[in-house]
Amino acid sequence: MSPSPPRPARPRALTIAGSDASGGAGIQADLKTFALLGVYGMSALTAVVAENTVGVQGVVELEPSFVLQQIASAWDDVGVDALKTGMLANAAIVEAVAADLARRKARHLVVDPVMLAKGGEPLLAADARRALVDRLLPLAEVVTPNLPEAEALSGMRIADEAARREAARRIQALSGGWVVLKGGHAPWQPGRSVDLAYDGREWLELEGERVETPHTHGTGCTFSAAVAAGLAHGLDVPAALRLARAFISAAIRGGAERPLGHGHGPTDAVAAAVALGGRPVPVAEFAATPGAPGAPGAGGRARPGEGGAP
Ligand SMILES: Nc1ncnc2c1ncn2[C@@H]1O[C@H](COP(=O)(O)OP(=O)(O)OP(=O)(O)O)[C@@H](O)[C@H]1O
Ligand SMILES: [Mg+2]
Repeated sequence: MSPSPPRPARPRALTIAGSDASGGAGIQADLKTFALLGVYGMSALTAVVAENTVGVQGVVELEPSFVLQQIASAWDDVGVDALKTGMLANAAIVEAVAADLARRKARHLVVDPVMLAKGGEPLLAADARRALVDRLLPLAEVVTPNLPEAEALSGMRIADEAARREAARRIQALSGGWVVLKGGHAPWQPGRSVDLAYDGREWLELEGERVETPHTHGTGCTFSAAVAAGLAHGLDVPAALRLARAFISAAIRGGAERPLGHGHGPTDAVAAAVALGGRPVPVAEFAATPGAPGAPGAGGRARPGEGGAP
C-alpha cells in the first residue's frame, strides 16, 4: 500500500468565482461544499450575480485589481492548500488572476472553465476564451469542462464517446494536467452520467447513475469544489475525483427529492454529506419543550441532550 498523503491540520481552500443570489451555484455552492467536506473555505468574488433556479437576472463584474486584492487578503493571511476558479466573467479578470496565480506558484488548482449558465446565458465574454486557454489552463492540476465547454476548448463537435476521448486528448495537451470531461450533457449514455478523466497517460471513467431530474442547478460548481476539497486534504487527483463523483451524485439525488425554487432546483450538499457518512447537527435537540431544562421559565438555555425534541 502507498503511504497515506500528509494531512494539513485544517485544510484551507479558496474559490475564485462569481456569486449566485439563490445559493445553489457559484461561491455559495463552493463554500458549502468545502465546509461539508471538512475544509476551511475562502472566496474571491469576480462578479456579483443576481441568479436563481430560473435564470440570470443581472451581473455586476468587479474590477480585476479588486479580485486580486481579495485573493491577497485570503492567501497572505490564512494561506491556501488548494483552490478552484469558476466564473471569471471577462478577459481582464482571467489575465489578472492567471498572472497572480503564476506569481504565487499556486499548486492544486482546479479550473472549472465556466462559459454558460444552465439557461444558456453567457458567464464568460467570448474574447476571454483565448486568455483562459493560453494563461490559466497551463496552471491547472485539473480542468473540468462540461461537454459544450469541451467543444469550445477543443474546437470539435462531441457526439459520441470516441469524439469525447479525442477532445479530452486535445484539452489535456493545452493544460498538461488532468482533464475531466463531465458527462451531465452526454445524450449517448442513457441512464448513466460518466465523467471521463485523462492526464496524458491514464484514463479514468467515473461511473454514476443518471438521476432523472431537472434539478441540477450548481452541479458543476459543487463537483469542482469537491475536487478542490479533496486536494486540500492531500488526496491525489484520482482519489479527489472519486470523492467528487460520489458527492455530486448524492447531492443531485438529495436535490431531486426535496426541490427548491421554480426552475432547475439546486443540488443538496447537506444530503450528500449525510449520505457519505456525515451526521447533521441535531438541531431539534435545542428546541425547548415545556417543563424541560432550558424551556422558557425553567431557567437557562437548552443544551443538546437536555430534553428537547427527540
Ligand atoms: N442527472 C444527473 N445524474 C447524475 N449525475 C449528474 C447528472 N447531471 C450531472 N451529473 C454529474 O454532475 C457533475 C457535473 O456535470 P455537468 O455536466 O452537469 O456540469 P456543468 O454542466 O458544468 O454544470 P453547471 O451547469 O452547474 O455548470 C458531473 O459529475 C456529472 O456526471
Ligand atoms: Mg459548469
